[in-house]
Amino acid sequence: KMQQFISALLQKMTPEEKIGQLNLVSVGFTVTGPVVSEGVDAKIAKGLVGGVLNTFTPVAARKLQEMAVTQTRLHIPLLMGFDVIHGHRTILPIPLGLAATWDLPAIERGAHMAGQEAAADGLNWVYSPMVDITRDPRWGRVAEGAGEDPYLGAQIARAMVHGYQGPTNDMTRPDNVMACLKHFALYGAAEAGRDYNTTDMSRQRMYNEYLPPYKAAVEAGVGSVMSSFNDINGIPATANKWLMTDLLRRQWGFLGFVATDYTAINELSAHGLGDDKKVSELALNAGIDMDMVGEIFLNNLAKNIKEGTVKQADVDLACRRVLEAKYRLGLFQDPYRGVSEERAKQVLMQPAFVQAARDIARRSLVLLKNDNQTLPLKNTANIAVIGPLADRPVDMIGNWSGAGDGKQAISILQGIKNVGGSTIRVAYAHGANVTEDAQMIARLNAHGGQLDIDPRPADTQIAEAVQLAQKSEVIVAVVGESQGMTGEAASRADIGLPGRQLDLLKALKATGKPLVVVLVNGRPLTLPWENDNASAILETWFGGTQAGNAVADVLFGVYNPSGKITMTFPRSVGQIPIYYNHKSTGRPYAGVALDKYKSRYLDAPNDPLYPFGFGLSYTTFTYSKPTVSKASIAPNQGLDVTVTVKNTGQRDGEEVVQLYLRDVVGSSSRPVQELKGFQKVLLKAGESRPLTFHLTANDLKFYNDDLKLVAEPGEFQVMTGGNSRDVQQASFTLTK
Ligand code: IFM
Repeated sequence: KMQQFISALLQKMTPEEKIGQLNLVSVGFTVTGPVVSEGVDAKIAKGLVGGVLNTFTPVAARKLQEMAVTQTRLHIPLLMGFDVIHGHRTILPIPLGLAATWDLPAIERGAHMAGQEAAADGLNWVYSPMVDITRDPRWGRVAEGAGEDPYLGAQIARAMVHGYQGPTNDMTRPDNVMACLKHFALYGAAEAGRDYNTTDMSRQRMYNEYLPPYKAAVEAGVGSVMSSFNDINGIPATANKWLMTDLLRRQWGFLGFVATDYTAINELSAHGLGDDKKVSELALNAGIDMDMVGEIFLNNLAKNIKEGTVKQADVDLACRRVLEAKYRLGLFQDPYRGVSEERAKQVLMQPAFVQAARDIARRSLVLLKNDNQTLPLKNTANIAVIGPLADRPVDMIGNWSGAGDGKQAISILQGIKNVGGSTIRVAYAHGANVTEDAQMIARLNAHGGQLDIDPRPADTQIAEAVQLAQKSEVIVAVVGESQGMTGEAASRADIGLPGRQLDLLKALKATGKPLVVVLVNGRPLTLPWENDNASAILETWFGGTQAGNAVADVLFGVYNPSGKITMTFPRSVGQIPIYYNHKSTGRPYAGVALDKYKSRYLDAPNDPLYPFGFGLSYTTFTYSKPTVSKASIAPNQGLDVTVTVKNTGQRDGEEVVQLYLRDVVGSSSRPVQELKGFQKVLLKAGESRPLTFHLTANDLKFYNDDLKLVAEPGEFQVMTGGNSRDVQQASFTLTK
C-alpha cells in the first residue's frame, strides 16, 4: 500500500520537486552548524524542501508544516527534525551518564519520554541515538555516546530506538518519533580525539569493535541514519559507497533513508574530493538520500543528471526513501500529528517526567572513591559547598540539551539544601573559575556558554573558600567542566580539571577536613591527585533537569549509588587510547617491575585509574568464583555460568554483575576480555543470590580475518565480577 501510494506520488512529481525532497534546511531557534539556511519560506512554498531542523513548539512547527501542505503543488508534508539527545524539555543525564546506569529499561523509558515531548512540541524526527564507540576521552563528543563497549553499546542502541519509535516501530502513533542513528560511521575513532579528524581502521576491528551498535540499531528497525563527517580509510563517510550501500543496505538490509550531517557534502570538497558538482555526484551515488543544510543536491543534482554522472532512477530512489519515512510517520494522514498547545502543556515537563529524570539521574552517578565512609553525609552536618559548578543550574543540563532550559534545572547547591533539609548548615563559595583561559572563555561564551567568571585573582578566591571550609565539618567541592567544554567541537588536549580547580582542591585538602569531590563533566578526566587525596569522589556527569536533587539524594544516602563507568578513566593523557578490551600483544606486561622487553611505559603504569565497569556502592558485594554447567560444549549447545553475589554490607544496594569472555586461542588475536552479559540486581543487606548467565556459540563468535562470523573451537575463559578488573574466572571448551 505504501509503495503504491508513493509510486503514484512520484509520478506526479517534477524532477525539481524530487530533488527538493532531498533538501533539509535549518531554521528556527538554534543553529547547530557553521552556516544557516536562507530563503526557507520561499523554498518550502516552491516544494524545494523535504525537511526542516531546529524548529519546535506547536506554533512554530505548525506554521512551517502548514506552509508545506497548503502552499506546495503536491502538499507533501515536512520532516521536522531536532537534536533530542538526552531528553527534549525534561533533560536527562548526558548519554555517557545514561549508559553508566546499565539500566536498559530506564534508558528506553528516558528515550520514550524524550520522544513524547518532542512529538508534542511539533517534531517527528530525532537525531539520536548516537552510538559511536569512544576510546579517546579527548574527543568532546564522548559525552553523547554510551562509551567504549560494543556489547553494551548495542544493547543501549536497541533500547533507544524502541524508546523513540515504540516497541513495534509503529511511528504512526503520534507519541512516537523516528530515530536517526548516528554518526555512520566510526566518528568516535577520530585520530587524537580531535573532532572531525580522520579515521583509519582495519575492517576486522570495525566489524568486531566499532560496528555492532550501529548494526543493532538497524536490526531494531531504526528509520533513518546520519552520515558522519570523518574520512574512513581514505573515503569520507558521506561519499563512501562501501559504507552506505554495500554494508548498510546490502549486508545489513537497512530500508530507511540516510541524511548527511550538517553540510557534510560540501565538506567533501575540503576533504579534497572535488568541487560542488563532483561531491554532489559522489554523495548521491554513495547512497546518501538527504542533504543537511548544504544545498549541494539542490544546486547540483539536475546538472549531474543532465551530464549523466547521476541517474534519475537513483534520485527517484532517494526521494522514495524520504517519502516512505513520511508515510511511516503517518504524515500523509495527519501532517500535524495532533500537535496543539494544549497537548504540549500537558506533556512537556509533566511531573511524572521530572520525577523520572531525577530517578534516572541518580542511577547514573558513579561513586569512584569513598574512604572511611565519608559518604553518605549526615543530615546534621555543617557543610561547605565550594566550587565553580556548585551553583550552576545552566551547566547541569550539559551539552546538546536541545530545547531544555538550564534555568529550570536544579543546581547541586540547591539540591543539597532541598534534600539535606533544615537540619544541615550550608555555606557556599565559588572557589575558582572553571577555567582561566581567556581564549577558551571567549569561545565558550560565543556559543552560549554563559560562563560565570569571577574577575578577582584566583588566589583571592581560593583563600576565601579555604576560610569558609575551615568553619565546616565537611567540604563538598563541585568541580569539573562547564557544559560547553564537552560535546561537538569541544576536544581537549589536557583532560585534567581545567583552570585553577586542582589548586583549589589542594588548598581545601590542607584544611584537614574531609574532602568530597563532586565531579561535573562529560568525559573521563585524569584525576591522579584527586584519587590519592580526596576522601570521596562522586562522578555526576551533567545530570539534567534534576541533577542537583539526584546528586543530593546520593550524597545524603537517600539513594545508594549503583552506576558504573562505561569508559576507562586514564591516569594520564599519555595512556590514551586506553580501553579494557585490548589485545594481549606478544609481550604482555605482567607487573614485574624490572621487566624490560615488555609492552609498557617507562614512566607510567599500563593500568587505568578506574577500569571499565567500575563503581562503588555504600554497601559491599562479594562474588563467588563462577561455575560453568558444562566443561565443554558443541557448536549447537549452550551452557550456564553461575556466580553467587552477596551483599555483605549494612544497606540494600544494586549491583551491576558483569560477565566477560576471553577466546584463548583463535585464528586472529582476540581481546583479553569482552563483555558478554550483565545483570543489574537489587540485593538486600546480607542477601546472597546465585545469578545465571546463559551463553551460546553465538556469544563466542567474532569476525575473522575474512570477515566471516565464526566461533572457533578451543578454550574460553569466562570472568565475572563487579567491574572489568576485579574478576574471577572459570573456563570451558568449544568442541568442533
Ligand atoms: O545531529 C547533529 C550532529 O550530531 C552534529 N551536526 C549537526 C547535526 C544536526 O544538528
